[in-house]
Order: sequence, then C-alpha cells, then structure tokens
Amino acid sequence: MPTLTLSSSVPAAATAVDRPVASDELDNLDPKLQKVCELQGFTGEPGQSFVIQGANDRPVEVLVGVGPRAEIDAKALRTAAAAFARAAKLHKVVATTLVDAAAGIDPAEALQAVCEGAGLGSYRYTALKSDPDKGLDKISIVAKFKGARAAFNRGKAVVEAVTLARDLGNEPGGSLVPTAFVKIAREVAKDSGLKITVWDEKRIAKERLGGIQFVNRGSTHPARLLMLQYKPVGKPTGSVALVGKGITFDSGGLSIKTASGMASMKIDMAGGAAVLATMSALGAAGAKAAVTAYIPLTDNMLGGDASRPGDVFTARNGTTVEVLNTDAEGRLVMADALALAAERKPDAIIDIATLTGAVSAALGLSLAGLMGNDDSLVGKLEDASDRTGEQIWHLPLPSEYRKQLDSVVADLKNIGSGPWGGALTAGLFLREFVGETPWAHVDLGMSALSESDNGLVSKGGTGFGVRLLVDLLANW
Ligand code: BES
Ligand code: MN
Ligand code: ZN
Repeated sequence: MPTLTLSSSVPAAATAVDRPVASDELDNLDPKLQKVCELQGFTGEPGQSFVIQGANDRPVEVLVGVGPRAEIDAKALRTAAAAFARAAKLHKVVATTLVDAAAGIDPAEALQAVCEGAGLGSYRYTALKSDPDKGLDKISIVAKFKGARAAFNRGKAVVEAVTLARDLGNEPGGSLVPTAFVKIAREVAKDSGLKITVWDEKRIAKERLGGIQFVNRGSTHPARLLMLQYKPVGKPTGSVALVGKGITFDSGGLSIKTASGMASMKIDMAGGAAVLATMSALGAAGAKAAVTAYIPLTDNMLGGDASRPGDVFTARNGTTVEVLNTDAEGRLVMADALALAAERKPDAIIDIATLTGAVSAALGLSLAGLMGNDDSLVGKLEDASDRTGEQIWHLPLPSEYRKQLDSVVADLKNIGSGPWGGALTAGLFLREFVGETPWAHVDLGMSALSESDNGLVSKGGTGFGVRLLVDLLANW
C-alpha cells in the first residue's frame, strides 16, 4: 500500500500530478486539449481520468473530472481521487491537488475525502503474490490550511481501517481461522489503545453461548468470542455496542452449499472485520461515545459430528432454536452476541453481517440492507450513509412474517417458510435477541465483495461498513 503524505506544495519527486477539471469548465482548457478530451470521451464527470504527457522534465498530468463546479462535494472528491490513483498506479511518487479544487466546501472535509479516495483507490491485496507488481509508493496530498494535519490524520486512519477490513476479507478461510483473527485483533487493540477480551471454547460453553457452539461443532478449529472496548477521553456521550458476524469460512455445514455458492465464502467474516476495523479508527476519528464490540468467530464446517438439520440448541438468552438449515448459521452466532450485548444495556446496538444472499436479490450487488426496531437509530445510519456514500437501504421487519419462524418443537426455527423475503425473516430472527434495546441491523450480502475495480473499491473484499460506522460514531 502506498504511503499517504500531506504536503503544502507538489513535491519535486512527483512524476504524476492531477489536474482537476469541472464538467462545466471544459471551455477553459486550451482548444487543442478540448479536442483531445472530446476524442477521448472525457466530459469531466467524477471517476473519469485521462493522462496527458507533461512538457520535458515536467510530471505527467492526469486530467480528473470533478463534475459541475457548483456540485463538488466529498463524494465527487473521493471518486476523483480514486480515479487519479488508479490512472497513476505505475508511478512511484504522485501528488494530488484536488483539495484546492474544492473551494466551495469545508477544506477539512475535502481533505479527508481526498485521502480516502486516493488511499482506497490504490488498494491492492498483495500478501500472497510471490512477485507483486511494483505500484505507487507515495501519494502526496497537497493542502495548506489551519487544521489540515488533523483532517489528514482522520482520513489516513479511515484508509488504514478499511485496508485492514479488506485484507481480512481477502485472506483465505483456511488461514484466517478464529485464533488467527484473534491474533490480528490483539495487535490492532494494542496499536489503537483498545481493551481486548477473548473467550475461548471453555468460556463460551460456561457462558452458554449455544449458537456459537452449535455452528462450531463440525469444525476442527475452536471458536472464539472476541470483545473490544473503546473509551473516549472525557465523559462518554453515550454507549454503543457493535456486533459483527465472524464466520471465517461458510461451507453451509451439512446443508452444504454448491461449489459456486461456496467459492467466495471466506468473505463471511466481513461484518466482524468491519467492526474490528471501525474500532481501530475511533480514537483518530475523535469518537466521544463508549463503544463495545462483539465478534463471534467460528467457521461453519461439516465434520463427523457436525450439527444436523433438526438439531435444537439453547441461545444465550434462553431461547431454544430448531436449526432446519445449517447454512443459516450467521443468525445463530449473532443471536448469542446480540443477547450478550443487550444484557449490558447500551444506548444502541448495531450489527453488521453477511447474513443473507436474499438481501442482494433485493438490492443488487453493491447496496447493503438496513433493518431495525428504532426509527431514530435507523435515521442516524441513513445520515452516515449519505455522508460516506456507503449505500444502505431501509427494509421493513413485517410482523406478519414473524410466524414463519415458529417451530413445532422449539421456541423458534432458523429459517422462514419459503424462498421469499429471506433478508427480512433473517432480520426478524435477530430481533428476538435484542429485547427492548434500540437496534439496527446491516445485512451486507454481496456488498462485502466486489467483482471489479470500480471507484473506491477493488476486486475482492470491499471493507463495506467501516466508513459508515466510523462516521456514525464520530458524530454520536
Ligand atoms: N453467508 C451466507 C449469506 C451470503 C451469501 C452472504 C452470499 C454473502 C454472499 C449465509 O450464511 C447463508 O448461507 N445464508 C443463506 C440463508 C438460507 C439458508 C436461509 C442464504 O442466503 O442462502
Ligand atoms: Mn451460511
Ligand atoms: Zn454465512
């Protein structure tokens, strides 16, 4: 990953520098360049970029679109900065002047957005390449105003956090087992000043976390419950619990997935990764609430004594659950973690999980679903979504669907009655474990993964939810 630096002017070492162009100001370019833009199809929209050779000894210039002058906002800047980083990816040292292009908006917001775009647009997962192609070493962000350093540090912390979530998502399921996830979390906790608590399989049994035990039964890797605590300086403005699904690989268990359905299931800890990553950035983001994270970790495998369809377990809150499909495992581990979070009576619980494929049938590949029992909390998440551009869509929890979860033999069953509305029945299932606590649920579905390099995301893990949650908690 390239290093992000803040500088007051374009460094001499830069071999590529951007030239922001507003879509309604193409006429200001010299006529020859206007003609080239036309031939290249460059209209100045955010996301467009186009390299022009600099004069002798001058750095290469990259025209980057920023959209209509009057509409330049954080989103346009993030997109433009990402496009620049992609266009200049073979250079060693590059510089972006996008912060200056955004005269209309708060410079601190502009700087953070440019950091995020440049840092995330140049993300690549190279840990397992024997000969990673040499890319960008250094991206210099040119800005000079009072408070620039603080805004830069916030942006950098967000980039590092999203990078962590993406790296975890991209790491193979056979190496990122629960104990390996915990090992990384210990380093993160140490670096970010978080308190960390880990429950091993014995403690999980003693604490009656029946859902985690149930899912772990077919695995040779012991389960863990990872908890992290962030305490702000000064009196907290509130208390929030984050719960992230940490299925380190989802084979489906005995209700086994198809080969193609299973191929991407190392991503099934993306919610847990987003929560860990969010926690790592709270200090730098200046979050003032006390935040506690719960990440249940296990893979979902099919060893000789794996849980069978029809088996029943008792969750942390005493609810008995009949499991008719072992591939609906996320809600089982989340049930315990949500119940535990609710016992401690935080002001709000927010969970994030790759819970269903059904949410992506509804919303497509890049949006996540949002459900909850509290309109004000849901509204806060929608506001954070607007600010960050991480798109979530509010879905209902229809009470008439609740009866689909009635079981003949236990208090609940873990799947709905038919193929329809699967994201909603999953959300209704989770709701059973939070009691009266205000709660919101983000179902990532496929948004945890990208099929292509596109804007801020690269093919593979997206780190979806980190920017959303950091923004939410920074404004709590
Ligand atoms: N982890 C999957 C959901 C998923 C699928 C997330 C694809 C991201 C991409 C989850 O554990 C699962 O298997 N859900 C089932 C539920 C069904 C059995 C009720 C699903 O969505 O098919
Ligand atoms: Mn599953
Ligand atoms: Zn799963």
